[in-house]
Amino acid sequence: MAPEERDVIPGRRRSRAVAPGDASGAVGLVVEDVVSGYRGAPSVVHDMSLSVAPGEVVAVLGRNGAGKTTLLSTISGVLRCRRGRVALGDEQLSGMPAPRIAAAGVAHVPEGRRVIPGMSVDDNLRLGGYSLRSRTVIEEQLRSVIGLFPMLEPWRRRVAGSLSGGEQQMLAIARGLMGKPRVVLLDEPLTGLAPILRAEVLGVVDAMRTAGHAILIVEQNAAETLPFADRVLVIHEGRITLSGSAAEMASSSAIQEEYLGLPIGRTAGEPCPTREESRRW
Ligand SMILES: Nc1ncnc2c1ncn2[C@@H]1O[C@H](COP(=O)(O)OP(=O)(O)O)[C@@H](O)[C@H]1O
Ligand SMILES: [Mg+2]
Repeated sequence: MAPEERDVIPGRRRSRAVAPGDASGAVGLVVEDVVSGYRGAPSVVHDMSLSVAPGEVVAVLGRNGAGKTTLLSTISGVLRCRRGRVALGDEQLSGMPAPRIAAAGVAHVPEGRRVIPGMSVDDNLRLGGYSLRSRTVIEEQLRSVIGLFPMLEPWRRRVAGSLSGGEQQMLAIARGLMGKPRVVLLDEPLTGLAPILRAEVLGVVDAMRTAGHAILIVEQNAAETLPFADRVLVIHEGRITLSGSAAEMASSSAIQEEYLGLPIGRTAGEPCPTREESRRW
């Protein structure tokens, strides 16, 4: 790996991590010098700093066990920060319990599409809006989310357990949007999905970006995810080892060797597909 490819945004450079707002006053996610891990065990995430602006998709790559899920769980408050802070604009989230972080605007869609199988699609969605003020607001938001996920329309009265794995994944993401989040954390949303559904999920990620959400997406499937990302972070042993624009990363030899190699059927050196090409797959 060439030295200039390393640490484009090193973990300790605070000024790069603080990019929380845009001209409209919308606020993004800020993670600063975060250290976290599991109870009774050494820290897994070390000195992690990153930001995701409204309308931006940041992809997190890393091998199994690198700390990607731990990072998302720390942002959403499932795990607490041992050091450092997580904020939404000026509002500090770290230290709050997970339900308050969700109510403050962070939706975490965990690995493994955990929908409630015995409930209807609509009721699963309503549950996702539990933090909204009133039934009227929940029903309004339900209509708005169905607008973003038109594929859910014909399934609304079906029990969620009768949907295919990919359809449940779509429901899990849609449920995350029911709380009107500003930040959406997606943990391996493509895992186990057929190519056509992977393309649908990525299409939804694109629509969420257009709607102004700040999106942090953890994915193993770099070849398909990179064309939809604005920036990419690579995590190794709980630290950011490489970061940059998605275009820079797609042409980085380190990324090509590690993430765009034979397993996904492309040869190293072959350019990553554009967003348009990827949509056609
Ligand atoms: N519940 C847990 N308790 C203790 N250690 C865990 C737990 N979950 C994950 N780990 C450890 O944390 C490290 C990072 O795991 P994880 O964040 O799940 O990685 P990734 O999502 O990148 O595959 C691994 O070493 C893993 O063994
Ligand atoms: Mg994981």
